[in-house]
Order: sequence, then structure tokens, then C-alpha cells
Amino acid sequence: MAAAGRKNGIASDVRVKELVQRIEKLKKEMRAIILAHYYTLPEIQDVADIVGDSLALARAAESTDADVIVFAGVYFMGETASILNPDKLVLMPDNHAGCPLADSCPTQEFRAFKAKHPGAVVISYINSTAEIKAESDIICTSSNAERIVRQIPPDKDIIFGPDRNLGSYVMKKLEREMILWQGYCYVHEAFDWQVIKKAVDANPGAELIAHPECREQVLEHADFIGSTSGLLKYAEQSSASIFIVATEPGILYEMQKRSPEKTFVPAPKDALHPWSTCTQMKQNTLEKLLECMENRAPRIVVEESLRQAALRPIRRMLEMS
Ligand code: 13P
Ligand code: SF4
Repeated sequence: MAAAGRKNGIASDVRVKELVQRIEKLKKEMRAIILAHYYTLPEIQDVADIVGDSLALARAAESTDADVIVFAGVYFMGETASILNPDKLVLMPDNHAGCPLADSCPTQEFRAFKAKHPGAVVISYINSTAEIKAESDIICTSSNAERIVRQIPPDKDIIFGPDRNLGSYVMKKLEREMILWQGYCYVHEAFDWQVIKKAVDANPGAELIAHPECREQVLEHADFIGSTSGLLKYAEQSSASIFIVATEPGILYEMQKRSPEKTFVPAPKDALHPWSTCTQMKQNTLEKLLECMENRAPRIVVEESLRQAALRPIRRMLEMS
């Protein structure tokens, strides 16, 4: 469905106000909490109770006493919330908003990959399916990956998936080998240092800040590398006044809100890969948010034995981070 009230990417104030009023009313009636990722549209972030990175959102889903969780993000996020809360109603505005990185790791192939390295500890990025989580020993996010890998005894082999860029980044940081699944996020893979360099050169004094899902050739030039919440915190605290931001540009909305006096430039993309936005995150519109609350659907449910198996490594992550 096209986003009503959105013209050339700008939502009309009247339509937005009406939708927000209806969402707020339903939220009270349903005792619902709305969780949203920093990559979602500004109007979604505005209506959310909590906007966060993957770890903060998983924690919020774990600790909420709301009856209903409405998750504006991508499928693995709603699925994680449902795994943590089997007795709550977990809704998503669009359950077709998947994460191509998570989908790049099919279960059968991952099992075969694991079988080649018996005895290895399997650490999976939260951007993975419930089936892959169930195949894992520990889950991690971009904000705790380093901390979790650090806790694995040095004599143990580690399989890390599905994001090879986050895996390489942690390997380099900790000077420790890991066996990497070769998945990547198309949004972050699109950034190229030679293209970004032009923006850095054109903005004297600018700092390059990057998400660890970016390629190594970008990360090695970054002044700061962090999860979405890490990037936000750094940009707020840094004395620099201009930042080239190498991650999904939805984050600029919160960055600018926290530091209105600073300038944030979205990192330009590689000409060969004409995307730097996450299409899937943008599938969450106000219309669909309202609709899912009105219809109490689509609901995210994970089959019980799979849920139990996927819950174990998520709980380990929450304990270890
Ligand atoms: P974080 O918000 O945890 O850094 O993750 C980024 C991301 O790509 C979410 O899909
Ligand atoms: Fe997945 Fe990349 Fe979108 Fe994050 S930004 S949800 S990793 S496709």
C-alpha cells in the first residue's frame, strides 16, 4: 500500500496527525508498546515508545509489561520479541519486511557449514532467522559482538555468521581468527571508500563514522565504528561539527534531533550499488502501523519447539552483555 499523505517522501501534517491520534488511542486501549528501529521513517520513530538499536529493542521486548508489542522493524526483530514473549501479542506493521542479510543464511546450508567445524562455538548475529538462532550457542548484536567473543576461551574455534563484515571487524579488533559465514547487508556493502573519500575531502574537519556492517576498506578509514546507538552517542559527544555517516540514513533523524547544531552528511553510495537505504525498514508506514493494531494482525508467532531452541542463545546473550 502506498503511504497516504506522503508526497515526494514528505508526510502531510494533517494526515500524519490523524493517524497518530488513532494510533495513540489504540495504544492505550490495547495496553500496547511500540518499538521502532532507528532506520525506520521519522514519523514512525516519532510515534514509537522506544526507538533503539537491536540490543536495546530486544531488552525492551524482554522487560515490557505491556500486553501487546508492536514492532516497527524487520522480521527478525519481531520474531525475537515473540521468542522472548510467547504469551504476548506481537504485531508487525508489515510481516514481509524481511532482512536480506538474515535470509542469506539458509538453515540446511548453515548446518552443513557447522558440520565441517565440529566443536566450534557458534555465535550468530541477531540479524538471523529463528532457525539459525536455534543452531547457535550465543546470539550477539553489533553493540555487544566484541564483548561476547572476548568471553569465549581462546582454545575454542568460533563460527560467526551471517555478517562477514561484522565478523572481520571483531576478528581484527580482538586479533582472533573466526570461521565466517559469507553474508552481508546490501545497504552497508554498498559503501565504497573511494566514493566516501570525496565527501570527506569536501567537508574539511568532518569525521567519518561507520557501522561495522560496512566493508573493511571503509572501516579502516573511519574515525569511529559502532552500532547505531554507538554512532548516535559518539556524534553527540564528539567535538567535531560535521560527520559523514556510513550507515542507513534513517539514523540521521535521531542524530540531528540530539545535536541540532551539527551537520550530518549521509555517506554517498557506490555507483555500482544504487542503494544506501534499507527498503525493508521503510516498509513500516503509519498506515500499516494503525492497520496492524486495528486488525491485531499480522501477528508474529514462533512454533514452540523452535522458540525454545532459539530462546537459549538469546538468553545467553542477554546474560553475557
Ligand atoms: P544495530 O541497530 O543493532 O546497530 O543494527 C543495525 C542493523 O542493521 C539492524 O538491522
Ligand atoms: Fe538487514 Fe541491512 Fe536492513 Fe539492517 S540495514 S535490516 S542488516 S538489510
